[in-house]
Amino acid sequence: MKKRMVSLMLCACVALAAAGCGGSKNFKNPSRGEALIMATNAAFEPYEYHEGDEIVGIDVEIAQAIAEKLGLTLQVEDMEFDSIIAAVNSGKAHIGAAGMTVTEDRLKNVDFSDPYTTATQVIIVQEGSDITGADDLAGKKIGVQLGTTGDIYASDVEGAEVEQYNKGMDAVQALANGSIDAVVIDNEPAKQFVSKAEGLKILEEEFAVEEYAIAVAKGNAELLDDVNKALDAIIADGTVKGIIDKYITAE
Ligand code: ARG
Repeated sequence: MKKRMVSLMLCACVALAAAGCGGSKNFKNPSRGEALIMATNAAFEPYEYHEGDEIVGIDVEIAQAIAEKLGLTLQVEDMEFDSIIAAVNSGKAHIGAAGMTVTEDRLKNVDFSDPYTTATQVIIVQEGSDITGADDLAGKKIGVQLGTTGDIYASDVEGAEVEQYNKGMDAVQALANGSIDAVVIDNEPAKQFVSKAEGLKILEEEFAVEEYAIAVAKGNAELLDDVNKALDAIIADGTVKGIIDKYITAE
């Protein structure tokens, strides 16, 4: 009996602490005229990439349009993809916009805006490869960008050896050099990477369908609401479609 009481009390304390923590957390959201800081990994054309001294791309323009709606300026911080969630949660950045797929696992650590586009995971192989679909990946050497959903899917493939690279293009280069058998990565960057390498092709079979959204710190309801309102408005008035069409030409 005594033991039970103690554990019940413990439970209550943990619950209270969690609630207190969520409620009192002091999010430093930008005020009018200040900068909305966006964490990204600018090695993911056409969503975010370097063009001369600038970081450009679909996510940058969408974030810019959101910032404008909120009366803010946009500041882009480039980092490794697997640092973005920590940057958002620590307050180093206000939002994460990086072709980031909404996953159950990530939802434990961050909140996501409404989705702004869909994407697929595809498989890239050498032109003469005997890999024709996901089923042939078993036991193969698969290259991925560290911490991405491609990384997660590849890790589930039976007997596969997963090689993690900091950049998707590094994985694609390793494939072109023959040091790995395939790359699992998002469809639009896949097209860009393949066009910059020799002798590679994208398989038709889609590995997974995903939704991209903007991450904000877990529990930052105020910013999430602001971002969603701005995002919904620029989706409704065609701005988002215009931005996507500017970077992705329909096949
Ligand atoms: N959509 C994938 C994910 O969320 C890959 C995103 C990679 N983005 C980037 N900017 N490198 O895991």
